[in-house]
Amino acid sequence: RNVAVLLAGGVGTRVGLDIPKQLIKVAGKTLLEHTLGVLHDHPEVDEVLIMMAPGHLDAVRAILRSGQYPKVVDVLEGGETRNDTTLKALERIGEEDCHVLFHDAVRPLVTARIVSECFEALRTYSAVDVAIPSADTIIEVAEDNTIKEIPPRAALRRGQTPQAFRASVIRAAYAKAVEDPAFVATDDCTVVLRYLPEEPIWVVQGDERNMKVTEPIDVYLADKLFQLTSNDAPAPSTEEEYRAALAGRTMVVFGG
Ligand code: CTP
Repeated sequence: RNVAVLLAGGVGTRVGLDIPKQLIKVAGKTLLEHTLGVLHDHPEVDEVLIMMAPGHLDAVRAILRSGQYPKVVDVLEGGETRNDTTLKALERIGEEDCHVLFHDAVRPLVTARIVSECFEALRTYSAVDVAIPSADTIIEVAEDNTIKEIPPRAALRRGQTPQAFRASVIRAAYAKAVEDPAFVATDDCTVVLRYLPEEPIWVVQGDERNMKVTEPIDVYLADKLFQLTSNDAPAPSTEEEYRAALAGRTMVVFGG
């Protein structure tokens, strides 16, 4: 059994509206509905659990009233932090040994391909992350804002979601994490990496478009990306297709 958990327990402080950012409408639907649609309609997802920001569960119930989402088994309040939200979801799922896929509600452009590859990787690995290469150089800074280290870019990736796990493994990792007073993390693979270091975590290739709506500008970027995917002429989706679409856009210099 494959359970998809939609993490929508945050309030979106950095976007700074008076509603959680997952309820912002982009391309005619809330971010939450876009994300829910992809997970819900994926053939390998059996159940969907929605973890919503406290005080906003009615908005989700209103969305579910359409009857379009029969795989949604429950809508629960998220926790104080993202990891608290994950823990609450794990409690709801119980002891059953299923596969659990956690996804940020604010990454509405996740693709079915990514979800499929996560489930496929779970046949071999018990923990799976999604990431893309970084075009920017990533630098590590010290507290005084001077550079501490510049790790070689070739080995660096930008982590996205979903992150998927064999339920027993993510449960075991969190069981150790909650015993650790120094526990801090912002995602779930970190918990496995730190508390079950012997467990390999496979990395599925993400997608540039699978961006996280974090700052106000991201709402505009997401809107543009949706326009790109909803045109009558289908947008490029692979690197080759983008390259082909670029043919003829290069500058031609005569003479010289
Ligand atoms: N999230 C969650 N529970 C929390 C905090 C975050 O389920 N207590 C979810 C968010 O709803 C979002 C995802 O985790 O889908 C990524 O987190 P982030 O972008 O940091 O969202 P917010 O916490 O809402 O944003 P901010 O940090 O700006 O307040």
